Order: sequence, then structure tokens, then C-alpha cells
Amino acid sequence: MATDFSSTAFAAQGSPPAPSSAAFPRRLLEQLEEWVGHGLCWVCVDPPNGLCRSKDQPPLDYQALAPRLVQVARRGQVQAVVNQAPLLVLALPVPREMTSGAVWVGLDCYRIGPLRTPQLDRLHPWVLDVDDFATWAQQQPITAPRTAQHLLQMALRCLKQQAQLDQIGTEVDQLCEQLCHTYEEISLLYRLTNNLALNRSEQELAATAVQWVGQILPAQGLAIFMPQRMARSPTSGGLWTYGPFPLSSQEVETLLEYLGLGFQHAPCVLNHPQEQFPQWPFPEVHELIVVPVYESERFFGWMIAVNHLYGGEFGSAEVDLLQSISTILGIHHSNTLYYHEQGELLTGIVRSLSSAIDAKDPYTRGHSDRVARVAVRLARQLGCDARTVDTIYLAGLLHDVGKIGIDDRILRKPGRLTPEEFEHIKQHTIIGYEILRGIKQLCHVLPVVLHHHEAWDGSGYPHGLAGECIPYLARVVAVADAFDAMGSDRPYRKGMSDEKLDAVIRQGAGKQWDPKVVEAFFACRNEIRRVVKLSPEEDPIQLRIWPSY
Ligand SMILES: [Fe+2]
Ligand SMILES: [Fe+2]
Repeated sequence: MATDFSSTAFAAQGSPPAPSSAAFPRRLLEQLEEWVGHGLCWVCVDPPNGLCRSKDQPPLDYQALAPRLVQVARRGQVQAVVNQAPLLVLALPVPREMTSGAVWVGLDCYRIGPLRTPQLDRLHPWVLDVDDFATWAQQQPITAPRTAQHLLQMALRCLKQQAQLDQIGTEVDQLCEQLCHTYEEISLLYRLTNNLALNRSEQELAATAVQWVGQILPAQGLAIFMPQRMARSPTSGGLWTYGPFPLSSQEVETLLEYLGLGFQHAPCVLNHPQEQFPQWPFPEVHELIVVPVYESERFFGWMIAVNHLYGGEFGSAEVDLLQSISTILGIHHSNTLYYHEQGELLTGIVRSLSSAIDAKDPYTRGHSDRVARVAVRLARQLGCDARTVDTIYLAGLLHDVGKIGIDDRILRKPGRLTPEEFEHIKQHTIIGYEILRGIKQLCHVLPVVLHHHEAWDGSGYPHGLAGECIPYLARVVAVADAFDAMGSDRPYRKGMSDEKLDAVIRQGAGKQWDPKVVEAFFACRNEIRRVVKLSPEEDPIQLRIWPSY
């Protein structure tokens, strides 16, 4: 019953060879023949190069019918192309979307009347051999034309519905695949945005991003390139790669220059660059996407994907993903930059305040800076984390800021202070606290400013706190403060010798100062003695980032 899809062709009648099976909707047509109940004859009318004939169908001159079949294909409906007793030939057009572009028409022949010689003779234009046709016709039942037409119309409807179902199935599969991919992308963007802490370095984020993106992008190699000249700090630049990325930093620079991508906002996509650039200097690069990482007019670097993983071409899906990532990176870089700039501004203000204290009390010039740098060494010795070390540095610079509110005559008095004058001086802790309490960004140094003159045994001021009730950082700064105050020369006295100073501090452990801080002092005493002799320029303390709480 079934049509022989492979063997019969116009070639058998001196016509062109059979069409490729790719354009032939074999499964659909087999299904249709099953609905009709017998095999059909199939003719490709566009391009006109193929014929598949079932044994159920008579030997007609199908080429002679071709012009009529083209019309049927155009109208898209079941139609009789020969209706001359005893022969009815119905044509059924296969919708073009089911056949990858080629247009096929099915032919179904029926006997619709008795076999009489005059009638058979009139069929000569369509029948190649009347005897063969008569043999075929004798084996056919007589069918009413309306019944035959109705049957074929039903079959065409079923064919279209089946094709629609197949199409929907394909679309659902594609949608599922697309959804999976979109989910992966959204998940990646979500994870990335969750890693955008401002104190996270650009290097850390770039290294993470390149690994995550590399896992879902269909590229053999991926890189994030941030040139040194665009980096915030001398160590921020670099090349982070995923997979076999064939270019070095230098080669990436050359590539960007070769393509003229200096400060271009738009992404660059090149598939088969060898065809576009006959002298293409990067033979290992066959497909390429370059996406800039920037925010407003600030460029930070580029994301570069090379060589499609499955030998295909890069398209908008890959570019969109890289652009989303580069936007996140660009905004993060920019925010980090602003954040650092704000931090540097605040550090500058703190240093200015510290200089103002020194200017007011020239006898203790540089005291605040030395206390800050000694306190940093103590904090490191005590195992404090980087953020705490930053805090203690700022606290050291500002611990005596309240002296701005102390009477100059008392502050500069060369001799011993009267009890009243000393009471007045003691106010500098509270005044300092009041000066800084309105600055939110400095709230974490307030405990040091207020309590750096408390004593471990509770004999200090302003609140007479004792032991661990005294804020930890205040206990650390207290030792640094005393060390610098006792060791520095004053107009009315010489600074203590190292030996004397060591003895005083050792005796003060557990009375004046926290014994653990004193222990840390002696553990790094040589380092402390070295750094107090240095100027701030010779011993700069770099704040990693402005501490936030
Ligand atoms: Fe003080
Ligand atoms: Fe001080």
C-alpha cells in the first residue's frame, strides 16, 4: 500500500533526479496514506524535480499534469485535476511549511465509472499506456467522486493538524531549552549581584565572573581583561581567563588596537574573521566577541569570548549575556571607585583635623600621627582584622581631637598643671566625642576618643571604667598614647629613655593598661621604636577601604 519514497522519480520518465529526502515530509505523508487507506503518488512541483509513486496508483503522465498541480499548490485546497469517467484524479497540496520549502502535491486516482473503450480513448492526454491503465482500473472499486473528495479533504485537515501538533511540540522543546538557558543566565546574574560587596576587590569579582560565565557561554575560551592603565590601583589590572584562552595580555592589547576598539561602547562580534581580514594576525581565533566593561564614560576593561564551543557562530544571545555581565561589572567598578574616593576624602579630612590639633599644641607636633601608627602595630600584633586595623588608625589620628576645645594657655603651659587646669584638660575626651558624634562615618572611632584615658584599674577618666569594660580599641590606643607622650621631649622635660619607658609600661600592666596590650607592646617593641622615628611619608598607612559598620 505504501508509497515507495525512494525509488521512483521523474528520472524514470526522463526527468531530473529525485529531490533530497530532507525536503520530503515522509512521516507526515505515511500518516496521511494511513488515513486514506492506500498509497498515493507524490510530485514535487517547486522545484519541479521529483516523483514518488505508489503501486496503488496508475501509470499516468504525471509530467503532463504538472501545470495543473502548480495551480493546486497555489490554492492550497484539494482539487480534481482530471475528472473524466472512468478516471478521477484528486490533487492534495502539502503546505510548504511542512516540507522545508519544497512544494509537494499528492495525487490520488479513483475509478468513477464503467470501463468503455471510447471513454478510455479520451484519457490519452494523461494515460501513457491504455492497457496498463485498464488493468489498474479493473482492480479498483467504483467510487463516488464526492466520497473520494471528502476523504481526501478530511485527510488534508488531519495532516495540517498533525503538522501543527508537531510544530507546537518543536516549539515547546525549543522553549524548554530556551527557558533552561535563561534560567542559567538569571541564576548567574543573581549570584553575581550577590557578590557585589563594595569591599570586594575588582580582581576577586573578575576571577569569579569569568569562571561562572565561562561555564554557561558556548565559547572555548573567555577572558576579562583590565589594562593596568585603566585600573584604580597599580595592582588592580590583569587578565582573568576561563578555558583555553589563546591570547596573552599583550596579544589582547594588540587585538583591541587591530580592531580599533579603544573606547567603543558597542560590542564587536566577528565570525570567521579570516574571511573579513585576509591578514588576520590571530590564527587561533576563529570566532570572537568583545564587549567593553564601562560605566558612563569610564572604561574599566573588556570581556572577550573566543571560538564557538560547537563550531557554530556567535550571535545575539551570547552578546546579550556578556553585555549583562559587563554592565554589572562596570557599575560595580564605578561604585567601588566612588566608594574609595569618598573614603580617601574622609581620610583627608581626618588628617586635616589631626594637623589642626598639632597646630594648636606645637609641643606635641606629630603626636596624633605617631600614636595612630604605633596603635596600628599593636593591633596587628594582637591579631586584629584589616577593618579593625583601619579603624584604629583613624582613631589614633583623632583621639585628641577634643584638644581643639581646650584653652591654648593651658594646653601650651610649659610647667606642671594645677588641679583645676588638669580638670580642664581632661575635658578633651568629652569635647572630642561631641565634635565627632555627628559624623556618621566616624561613629566607630568614638569609643576611643572618649575612653583613651581610662585606666585598667578604674582610676582613669572620664568615666572611671575598669578592665574589659573599657572599649578594646581604647585600651590599645591608651598604650600607644602613653608610649609616645612619655618618650617625646617637651620644652620643660626630656623624653624618657627606652629603658625607663619599658619599666614604666611593664609596671603599669594590670594597673594603668590592659596586660595583654602591654604584652603585645613588648612583642613588637623594636618595630614600634623604629616606626616612631619615621615621618608619615616614610611610613604611610594605606587604608584598604573606608570601614563601614
Ligand atoms: Fe588624650
Ligand atoms: Fe594623646
